[in-house]
Amino acid sequence: MTHWIQNTLYCLSHIPSSRLSQTYDEALKKRNAILFRNLAKSGDSFHIESRTRLDPLDKDHSTWKLVFKGKSRTKTKPGDLLYIQWENSPEEVQELLDFYKKKGSELILVPTLSAPYQPGRLKLMTLRKALRSYYDITEASNSTLRLIGNSDTANWNEKMEISQRKKYIQVNQGISAKEDNSKIQFKHPKLLKVLKQCSQAPSLMALLKSQPPIRPRSYSMSHCHHEGSYVKAEITLSHFQKEYTDLAGQKETGEGRSTAYLTRIPLGTEVKTWFLPETHQFPSEIKRNIPTIMICTGSGIAGVMSLLRKGYTGGPLWLIYGVRSWKIKSLYGKELTEYHVKGVINKITAVSSRPQDPSEGKAQYVQDYLWDHRSEIKEWIEKEAHFYLCGRLAMGVDVSKTMKRIFEDQGLASDKEEAARLLKSWKDSLRYQSSVSGL
Ligand SMILES: Cc1cc2nc3c(=O)[nH]c(=O)nc-3n(C[C@H](O)[C@H](O)[C@H](O)COP(=O)(O)OP(=O)(O)OC[C@H]3O[C@@H](n4cnc5c(N)ncnc54)[C@H](O)[C@@H]3O)c2cc1C
Ligand SMILES: NC(=O)c1ccc[n+]([C@@H]2O[C@H](COP(=O)([O-])OP(=O)(O)OC[C@H]3O[C@@H](n4cnc5c(N)ncnc54)[C@H](OP(=O)(O)O)[C@@H]3O)[C@@H](O)[C@H]2O)c1
Repeated sequence: MTHWIQNTLYCLSHIPSSRLSQTYDEALKKRNAILFRNLAKSGDSFHIESRTRLDPLDKDHSTWKLVFKGKSRTKTKPGDLLYIQWENSPEEVQELLDFYKKKGSELILVPTLSAPYQPGRLKLMTLRKALRSYYDITEASNSTLRLIGNSDTANWNEKMEISQRKKYIQVNQGISAKEDNSKIQFKHPKLLKVLKQCSQAPSLMALLKSQPPIRPRSYSMSHCHHEGSYVKAEITLSHFQKEYTDLAGQKETGEGRSTAYLTRIPLGTEVKTWFLPETHQFPSEIKRNIPTIMICTGSGIAGVMSLLRKGYTGGPLWLIYGVRSWKIKSLYGKELTEYHVKGVINKITAVSSRPQDPSEGKAQYVQDYLWDHRSEIKEWIEKEAHFYLCGRLAMGVDVSKTMKRIFEDQGLASDKEEAARLLKSWKDSLRYQSSVSGL
């Protein structure tokens, strides 16, 4: 009997620590079910409580901490997303109304924003309100480009969109994309500029039919906590600038649509939001002693902050954080250093791509650092380390490529195919989880 108990205890203590409760497919299915359920709801109305610059020393690329407060019954996990419905600026709306000589008080019917999930529901609203909060009127859509006889540009954009989607799928499958990101250049001119250049502008109703509805944007929450019946959600917003190419091929710079909205709206403004889940299971499912390497760039630190602030419960943690310069752009650097001092983070590596002085090391990206320290990475892998990535898509692509090179170089895989299979199996078993997007 004693032998049986000892045997059972031995077996229990030797359950592989790396096994999470779900596979990637199961986690994805669960995530999608929650996602559709949440999106079918009309969303929460949160007001923007504060907006603080996180990198005042950076002259040309700002990052902001935004805190929203409101009531919600939706549950969230660290790493989840806040899905925000941005609005067009009142000035842009007025310019379009002036162009079509409309007052804005005319009533029109528009599908509700949850229409894809509850088809057929319509809402009556003023034209001004519809232009402000329903139709995306910043850029000429592909349908609008075709409507005004510019099919070539529309075809080009569609080709680029397909290529971007393919790449996104590949990254999410742990396969590195074949094409270089920098090749993805869209040609979406500003709508008002196009209308003004047009010899014969379409009617307003034809235009609205060819413009898409406003599609909300996702932001990784850097924190989310309950205060009585209220929820506070924090995001880390990178100021996204865009290049618009007009029909004459001239380039113009502007802000991203949601970026412009979130950095301009007055504090207290009510914003429509949804909580959306992510597939990854950090850290709620990692209650065991699993060493973890977190790799992030820029505002991708949001995902890491959410895990730390909810009480990271995994094993030894190594944070590899890519920024332009740790000195001027560490974002939550002081807080991260405190987690390091407390021993929550065992090792922090700041990788600066544009170091300000030699104390910041050589200029490099996180994947270059991983390659230079491949034997140490291998030691962590041998201790069953899990990986979590958060930040831009290109980083996800390049880190995946580097990991496969490390597998081969360090004798974890005999050739390229085996390295690809190994990374895929890690992705499937949630040992390698990533939340990457954008460029
Ligand atoms: C899962 C997830 C998590 C995210 N988390 C965060 C976060 O924590 N913080 C954060 O700041 N952002 C985050 N983002 C990005 C965010 O959702 C928005 O995409 C970002 O704020 C830009 O939106 P925008 O409306 O301002 O820009 P948009 O007006 O939508 O412009 C961006 C678009 O421009 C296009 N584009 C890109 N490059 C070029 C180019 N060179 N020329 C022309 N067009 C181009 C791309 O198609 C892109 O969709 C996340 C995205 C996802 C999917
Ligand atoms: N959960 C998510 O999916 C999530 C969360 C947050 C942010 N994001 C995405 O992150 C982007 C915003 O980034 P940001 O403005 O915060 O970052 P950023 O400041 O522009 O970049 C952060 C660091 O990453 C470097 N970098 C650029 N390309 C890289 C590559 N291919 N591999 C590795 N490092 C690279 C930058 O170097 P240089 O600038 O010197 O080239 C810089 O040092 C958006 O596209 C957004 O969609 C995604």
